[in-house]
Amino acid sequence: MAMLTWDEAYSVGSAILDSDHRIIFSLLAQLNDATDTDQSREVVGSVLKVLAEYAEHHFRREEAIMRRANYPLAEQHEQLHHDLEKKVTQICERWRAGERDALSTDVQSLLKNWLTDHILEDDKAYGPWVEAAQEQDGAVGGPANGWTT
Ligand SMILES: [Fe+2]
Repeated sequence: MAMLTWDEAYSVGSAILDSDHRIIFSLLAQLNDATDTDQSREVVGSVLKVLAEYAEHHFRREEAIMRRANYPLAEQHEQLHHDLEKKVTQICERWRAGERDALSTDVQSLLKNWLTDHILEDDKAYGPWVEAAQEQDGAVGGPANGWTT
């Protein structure tokens, strides 16, 4: 299973996106803890809600940065975000339907898909484009170049 602590191996070359990913690690770890320890429906539900909202916010930010960096696979990457968002929605629905047994397996598979497959492979792939664009922006416009939005 994926490690639940962010480390430098996960860096995508953007401070703001690395910070987003640290928060996602923490939320996924909380979700994993909540399902592993059979927390109440309310607790699991509230962690899921925060994770779903934060993921949406982070994905839109990452997509804007990829497009600004002219990353050639931005469109395919957005599709991967939609797939991850769909998985979170499905987990929310199963949780609401009271499928507690399935929930734990679904969460394990979400952790693998998101941390190991998505961040370590798909997100790291845009790193060189984002870094090059940041350098170019820095050379022209200094630090106030919008990379933190
Ligand atoms: Fe991504």
